[in-house]
Amino acid sequence: MVRVPSTSANLGPGFDVFGIALDLFYDLIEVTRKGEGVSVEVEGELAGLVPNTPQKNTAGVVALHFLERFDIKEGLSIRVKKGIRPSIGLGSSGASAAGVAVALNHMYETNLSKEELVKLASLGEVASAGSPHPDNVAPAIFGGFTVAINGEHLSVISLEPPKNLSLALAIPHIPVPKGKTKKARSILPKLVPLREAVHNVANSCGIVAGFMLSDVDMIGRCMIDRLVEPHRAKMITGYEEVKRRGLQAGASGVAISGAGPTMIAVVNDEKVDAEYVAKAMAEGFESVGVDAEAYAVKPAKGAEVLTSE
Ligand code: HSE
Repeated sequence: MVRVPSTSANLGPGFDVFGIALDLFYDLIEVTRKGEGVSVEVEGELAGLVPNTPQKNTAGVVALHFLERFDIKEGLSIRVKKGIRPSIGLGSSGASAAGVAVALNHMYETNLSKEELVKLASLGEVASAGSPHPDNVAPAIFGGFTVAINGEHLSVISLEPPKNLSLALAIPHIPVPKGKTKKARSILPKLVPLREAVHNVANSCGIVAGFMLSDVDMIGRCMIDRLVEPHRAKMITGYEEVKRRGLQAGASGVAISGAGPTMIAVVNDEKVDAEYVAKAMAEGFESVGVDAEAYAVKPAKGAEVLTSE
């Protein structure tokens, strides 16, 4: 059994690159050898929200790739106890993909490195996002904050978050379109103005520097994305108000979590109460008639093997 944390991708300017593991919701993944082919069973209150056809389920897709890569003829049964609600921007699909990659590596003693596991798990994301983005699966596997550099070869830089960093989240109860992540990606421009790209590069560097220097305020100040967020903001009722209230309550920075609609703030918890920020953000949603849940959390460790088959 593998336990995998929820994650938040992008942190503003780091689209498809940055991610952070959250000590909030977890998926539990259990893989056993069984019969022929791959079967996926999703359990828990959220089960109805996730497909269980292996080719459409991120965990199933990863298992199919794994069996092919290692030429394994056995069948597998995957049980996913879904603790991370899908389609809210907290890496639900990535968690199941990461969990099955970690479980299989452990079970078959294939000794894949964490980076190779990220690569494998990111293939699962195709089932949900239409592209193998690694920014949720990287922190789900490594824990903490990760930079996934997906060039010719994938490299992952894993940085431990500053001790005084907390995350404040506001999860709105708004209906999201079917295939939300695919949709949220399809509305993005193919080409972007150079000036805005330069801004994003600068802010992304500032975020990485902030993690390296343990400077929460620098991380937050740089959570400004001029390439993706302006387009997605339109899909999130209350976006401006939530951001304004979060910053006013003392957040160092506020951004859309992954493809949304959850909003996430980075908080220097030596100076500011993260719960206060989370509540202020949830009230931002409520002020425009949208119910929202507020959470204040610390970063989490990556996927853990709890028990073996
Ligand atoms: N980087 C991805 C996106 C994360 O923003 O589309 C999706 O979870």
